[in-house]
Amino acid sequence: MSNDAFGSRAAAAKVLVTGGSGFIGRNVVAALRAVGLPVRVVDLVPHPDPDVEIVLGDLARAEVIDASLAGGIDAIVHLAAVTSVLRSVEQPALTYRTNVAATAALLEAAREADVRALVFASTNAVVGPMQGASITESDLPQPLTPYGATKAAGEMLMSAYTSSYGLRCACLRLTNVYGLGMALKDSIIARLMRAIRTGSTFEVYGDGRQVRDYVNVADVTAAIQLALGDERWHGPVVIGSGTSRSVLEVVEAVREVTGAVIDVTNGPARAGEMPAVVVDNAVARSRGWSPRYTLAGGLAGVWEEWSGADMSAAPPHAPAAQAGGAR
Ligand SMILES: NC(=O)c1ccc[n+]([C@@H]2O[C@H](COP(=O)([O-])OP(=O)(O)OC[C@H]3O[C@@H](n4cnc5c(N)ncnc54)[C@H](O)[C@@H]3O)[C@@H](O)[C@H]2O)c1
Repeated sequence: MSNDAFGSRAAAAKVLVTGGSGFIGRNVVAALRAVGLPVRVVDLVPHPDPDVEIVLGDLARAEVIDASLAGGIDAIVHLAAVTSVLRSVEQPALTYRTNVAATAALLEAAREADVRALVFASTNAVVGPMQGASITESDLPQPLTPYGATKAAGEMLMSAYTSSYGLRCACLRLTNVYGLGMALKDSIIARLMRAIRTGSTFEVYGDGRQVRDYVNVADVTAAIQLALGDERWHGPVVIGSGTSRSVLEVVEAVREVTGAVIDVTNGPARAGEMPAVVVDNAVARSRGWSPRYTLAGGLAGVWEEWSGADMSAAPPHAPAAQAGGAR
């Protein structure tokens, strides 16, 4: 399968995007459709574009997986998950069911259906506390939460299906993803935008010195497209900007881009938070990917979207299920 099949030129390959109605999913679906690829989404909730083919349902149900693969699928982008760290701590059994059991069932159905490639949205939370100066693919998995543990389990299953059955699985360990279309998210940049637009106070969890890596969703989408078509992409690959910033620095960057006064308060640190995330993206670079967005450039686009949004039409608060944000 060449790069062209999924990246820059239309081809016959049909792609299933699980979780395609979510934040990253909507960006991925738009990018794949833009190059002319047939796309099918499976999700619990409808996709905003009525032209997108969708199977509505819970991926943990066998009949939903069957319907998703019916008629032939060449590759899968697997994004559907319990994405909230806090929710995973509160509901570990549900997190296991969605992130592990459904992933295992999807892999098995994909094997039977001769799917050629699968790109999995993993996370650097599989690693847990930093084991060196930066997080790399060879760090031992020592997850701190059910979210990180279930993503690590997903990666292990992918490894087995790649080696035993030749189903090429690329596990992209994403850092904090931000960008266009994150109105329903509860991660830091969405919370900052919401605080500015609603005039509310932004709560810093802990002292705000914890560092994180922020990667633009357009760069993540580009990595997913590369991984779909390029045989070199398999196993874990760290996808991050390679530059980490403290929460306080992000607040400052948002102030600079928006010109807004942001009222900040300090709250308690959250359970299961990684103390620091600094990543080395050398493996992804060696496979042809590099981030194109600086944080300031990416934030400018995000602010353009939020500053023009009708906050009474789009609910400013994320649903409770998303509290805590994905990592
Ligand atoms: N956003 C980030 O910062 C980030 C960082 C690292 C990894 N990730 C991973 O990337 C993926 C996408 O994240 P996102 O930010 O777009 O999340 P999101 O919550 O916006 O989207 C997830 C989508 O999956 C769907 N879904 C959940 N459970 C399902 C089920 N049982 N059956 C069918 N659909 C189901 C949801 O309805 C939602 O539309 C997730 O796997 C997440 O863990 C995200």
